Amino acid sequence: MSLRATIKPFEKKIFLSSPTMHDKEQQYIQEAFDTNWLSTVGKNIDEAEKLVAEKTGRRYAVALTTGTAALHLAARLSGVTEGTKVFCSDMTFIATVNPIVYLGGVPILIDAEPTTWNMDPAALEEAFERYPDVKHVMLVNLFGTPCRFDELRAICDRHGAVIIEDAAESFGASYKGRSTGTLGDIGVVSFNGNKIITGTSGGMLLTDDEEMARKARKYSTQSRDNAPWYQHSEPGYNYRMSNLIAGVIRGQMEYLEEHIARKKAIYERYQEGLKGLPIQMNPYDTANSEPNFWLSCMTVDPEAMCEQRRTDSEASYVYETGKSCPTEILEALLSINTEGRPLWKPMHMQPLFANCDFVTVSGGTGEDLFNRGLCLPSDIKMTEEQQERIIQAIRRCFD
Ligand SMILES: Cc1ncc(COP(=O)(O)O)c(C=O)c1O
Repeated sequence: MSLRATIKPFEKKIFLSSPTMHDKEQQYIQEAFDTNWLSTVGKNIDEAEKLVAEKTGRRYAVALTTGTAALHLAARLSGVTEGTKVFCSDMTFIATVNPIVYLGGVPILIDAEPTTWNMDPAALEEAFERYPDVKHVMLVNLFGTPCRFDELRAICDRHGAVIIEDAAESFGASYKGRSTGTLGDIGVVSFNGNKIITGTSGGMLLTDDEEMARKARKYSTQSRDNAPWYQHSEPGYNYRMSNLIAGVIRGQMEYLEEHIARKKAIYERYQEGLKGLPIQMNPYDTANSEPNFWLSCMTVDPEAMCEQRRTDSEASYVYETGKSCPTEILEALLSINTEGRPLWKPMHMQPLFANCDFVTVSGGTGEDLFNRGLCLPSDIKMTEEQQERIIQAIRRCFD
């Protein structure tokens, strides 16, 4: 338990990132009811796909049930199959890597680097030294921050490897003026409930390749052949988006820029309000990228970390004046009825991937970030006054 002075808790919980609805979403849902397109076909799906393709600059956006489904199809369409080795971002949510496992592929986990928290180009280079035959790379833009894409692309090009870009968290972000989700050979975005905009669930696969888009649509609807009866030559899935979900996404698309602006303001207020503390906000390449600021995160500087103990299922810390740690800060946030979260626990630390190879050149940047980092409440409905109280609660952890 923290010995620091406490702050009065909020009556209504402040979430990490919860859905923020406006007026258009229900209108498009109502349209679907009125026209009885209550299925996986309908105008909302067509329009949502068109809007996302236009926004990102990709020729095709294929609407699917989830971002995970989109990653599954993207991996299959890029040729991942039984035994295929795939270099994957290590510092991510497990949905980036699970689709490789569904296909019987072998994830090889690549460490993060400290300037964007994404895949380390030097570690990727090292991975190709060890596994020169690998032809697939799955990389993520973590917490809405674009990776060091050009460096990663140059390495992949030298080795003839395709890139699947998991832009689930970074929809609306850009790198050198290009939308994330269009940087890789195939891109994926997610519209689950906590994302920058949401359909309550949902995801899309982004591609410029007409044949790939056609196949993604086919696979997502049980791979029906072009025949007058139900005929199937390949396995498929029931992955197509519902016209109701698409209505919510269609409505939310009109507010994407507003959501990003509000998330950015939250990030900047934390940056300002936490000044002087021995902490760093999640960094990004200010010259080349514009994140969507989906989640504001921070790390405690190494010399300001009190002792933090984590077992497989429990966390504790030892109180120390002038020092703190993610466990104490998360406890302080919880005590005022706000939701924070540890950073994603790197994949090589997950029991599921204990047997996977892990490539690092730094000795474990992702693990270090996980030990010292946390996600801060980043809900766009949070008021400035509420955020100020959260900032004060964090500051007191370092008293
Ligand atoms: C990095 C990352 N990849 C993939 C996904 C999967 O998206 P979905 O929840 O839509 O399946 C998520 C979010 O949940 C994510 O954060």
